[in-house]
Order: sequence, then structure tokens, then C-alpha cells
Amino acid sequence: MRLQGKVALVTGAARRVGRAVALALAQRGAKLALHYHRSRAEAQRLAGEVEGSFGREAALFAADLADVRAVERLAAAVLRRFGAVHVLVNNASVYERTRLGETDRRRWDAHLDTNLRAPFFLSQAIGLAMKENGEGKIVNVADWAGRRPYADYIPYCVSKAGLLCLNAALAKALAPQVQVNAVLPGPVLLPEGFGYRARRNVIQATPLKRLGSPEDVAQAALFLIEGSDFVTGAELAVDGGRLVA
Ligand SMILES: NC(=O)c1ccc[n+]([C@@H]2O[C@H](COP(=O)([O-])OP(=O)(O)OC[C@H]3O[C@@H](n4cnc5c(N)ncnc54)[C@H](OP(=O)(O)O)[C@@H]3O)[C@@H](O)[C@H]2O)c1
Repeated sequence: MRLQGKVALVTGAARRVGRAVALALAQRGAKLALHYHRSRAEAQRLAGEVEGSFGREAALFAADLADVRAVERLAAAVLRRFGAVHVLVNNASVYERTRLGETDRRRWDAHLDTNLRAPFFLSQAIGLAMKENGEGKIVNVADWAGRRPYADYIPYCVSKAGLLCLNAALAKALAPQVQVNAVLPGPVLLPEGFGYRARRNVIQATPLKRLGSPEDVAQAALFLIEGSDFVTGAELAVDGGRLVA
């Protein structure tokens, strides 16, 4: 699929990895539906950059993806605003340390609702509209830890493992018109507040002995959208080798 003139919805687009993905899509000529939750000022800045630097249309959509009604409203609002959506990037996510014995239902739900239920309901609404239109691409931003879970982040890892199952199931359900693929980032941008020692340990455990960048994820997403239309249900690790370590 060529992105030129197409409409792409990126969730959690205002900052960090989502921002890099949104900018890469705009650079390739896409019009952008930029979803954000709390980062309104950053989202506005990004929309200005998309319009100013690339001359592309950018519209902002606020939604709490933990709220399933808000997810459905988001899908409807984007479809109403642009008429069609050609690309959906499920990027927004909650990532909190949740040690066994210290995890309550609220924190479990926050991860599963935002990281798994929201991509399902967005993909259901937008994926079916894409199928009806005859083309579409969904990129699910998962995590290598969905395959190799961390002990202290069980709800997050379970949500990402579920997202990988959803990725495969949607690839079948939305074929042949829509291709659905996952990117599995490794350490591309450490959580804010990670100290020097934690950073060093992450690099040490990564075969390529460095961190990646949000642009590495953006390039993988671009490949899955523009590089080939014969890839679906795939999982592309962008993890410096963590999955095979
Ligand atoms: N960073 C990494 O090294 C890394 C590694 C592996 C996987 N990943 C995956 O890559 C993706 C992006 O990573 P990241 O580090 O950029 O993510 P992040 O900064 O942790 O979160 C991305 C965005 O998710 C949005 N979000 C959180 N809760 C939400 C809610 N209830 N409703 C709506 N939006 C919500 C936030 O939007 P607002 O700011 O607007 O509130 C946030 O900016 C995620 O799916 C992550 O799991 C990242």
C-alpha cells in the first residue's frame, strides 16, 4: 500500500514511539488521525509539525482507551471525520511494574483494558470498515516480552501476549483485504525515570549491546504498511536480539 493520501490513525501518538511512527507516516504522505489521552499539548505540537513540516492534514482525537465506550466513539469519530481509515497503528499502552502479591484488580484491568481490549474494539470497528473498502493495514505494537515475559510485569506481558494472539486472529478474520501485523519492540526508549544502572543492565542483556530508537519501530511499521502486501499475521521483532538471547 502506498501511504500517499491515505488516512492513518495512530493511538498514543503524542509522545515517544507513537510520535515517531506518526511522523514517519506523515513523511510518506499520510493524513493523520492523532489519538492522545493526557498529552494534549504534545499532541497539538505534533499536529502543528505534521502540517507545518510535511503539509499533511492532522486531526486530534482524545480518548481514554481503558473505557470501551470511548474506544467505540473514537473509531466512529475518526471514520466520520475522514470518511475512511486505511491504516490503524495500535500503539498506546500502559506499562507499570506490578509485582506478584502487590497487583490489585484495578492495575490488572488498566493493562488489559488499554493494551488488549482497546485494540480489539478499534480493530473490530475500523478493520471491518477497511475490509468493506477493500484495503487496509493494521499494525499492532506489541513487545518481545509478550513472548518472553518479565516476572514483575505480568499484567503488561499478558496483555501483549494477548495482543499477539489478536494479531494472528485478525489477520485471518480480515483477510484478504486487510493485512494485520505486529511489531515487537525491545528496549527502544526506556521508561522515564530509569536510572543509569537499570539502563546499563538492559544494554548488557541485549545482544546488540545498545538501545534501539523509536525510529527503528517506525521503520518496521513502514515496512509492514508499504514494503509488502503479502505479509499478514507476522511478528517483526525490533529488539536488538532480545528474543533470541
Ligand atoms: N519504549 C520501549 O522501549 C518499548 C519496548 C517494548 C514495547 N514497547 C511498546 O511500544 C509502544 C510505545 O511505547 P512507548 O514507550 O512510547 O509507550 P508509552 O510512552 O508507555 O505510552 C504511549 C502512550 O500510551 C498512551 N496511553 C496510556 N494509557 C492510555 C489510556 N488509558 N488511554 C489512552 N491512551 C493511553 C499515553 O498517551 P498520553 O500521553 O496522551 O496520555 C502514552 O503517551 C507501546 O505499545 C509499548 O508497549 C515500547
